[in-house]
Amino acid sequence: MLASLKNVSKVFVNPRTGKGLVALNDVSIQVEQGDFLCLIGPSGCGKSTTLNLLAGFELPSEGEVLFKGKPITGPSPERGVVFQEFSLYPWMNVLQNVAFSVRSGNRSEREEIARKHLGLVGLLDFAHAMPNELSGGMKQRVAIARTLAMDPDLLLMDEPFGSLDEQTRRKLDNEVLSLWKGQGKTVVFVTHSIEEALMLGTRVVLMSASPGRINQEWKIDLPWPRDPLSPEMTALKKDIVKSLQVCSCANGASQGGFITISGSEE
Ligand SMILES: Nc1ncnc2c1ncn2[C@@H]1O[C@H](COP(=O)(O)OP(=O)(O)O)[C@@H](O)[C@H]1O
Ligand SMILES: [Mg+2]
Repeated sequence: MLASLKNVSKVFVNPRTGKGLVALNDVSIQVEQGDFLCLIGPSGCGKSTTLNLLAGFELPSEGEVLFKGKPITGPSPERGVVFQEFSLYPWMNVLQNVAFSVRSGNRSEREEIARKHLGLVGLLDFAHAMPNELSGGMKQRVAIARTLAMDPDLLLMDEPFGSLDEQTRRKLDNEVLSLWKGQGKTVVFVTHSIEEALMLGTRVVLMSASPGRINQEWKIDLPWPRDPLSPEMTALKKDIVKSLQVCSCANGASQGGFITISGSEE
């Protein structure tokens, strides 16, 4: 097993009122080497908190978060993170942004590795462009190249394409899929789109809110590229929507969380 949460609870204490908010309650997840695990659920159910625990940005209030059998005590380049917002250094060009996260070698060796990863995301021609000259999709490709250049064993992605248009998102989804296959990485991918999760994941884990917990898991052993309209995918989508309705009724629909049911927003 590569990473795991064992009976993890996370409480955020408001320093002003002293009151605690239970973001996660008794969550257990095992991430196996080679998984493409998609975490879905309404907003506020603790998806980002789960990812931040795996990244080492947060520590659990109870339970254990392990990576390769050892407790996670902080961030590490072995666990690379790609966020939704474009987090490039605006004063560095594309090549420098990527080379900055290469862990070893002199400058020209680091740039060589950066070029290789820019090639993987199809941006070699933009090596000398500045971040503000790039589209949103290109910035996210650079962010992915930068994270891959750290050579992480585990890639953590928090709604990485949530702010991009549908067409660009689909394209980047496919790129992440081929990087995952080609580079032999393990991915934990947060999305609120059931369809995106079903198009990508080997596993889809549904969380529910108030407090955040694991609701159900589906193993998806369909080959790629997947057809969102195939009978298998349609059946899975229906099944997930049904579980989601059951869990949101149990929580009270007043929570206001949202989740995208299909790719029909085009
Ligand atoms: N740093 C924090 N301080 C206080 N509350 C937080 C913090 N991070 C998350 N929360 C709360 O924990 C709950 C889960 O949040 P989050 O993990 O961001 O959910 P999701 O990513 O599924 O939308 C929410 O109620 C959120 O307001
Ligand atoms: Mg989130």
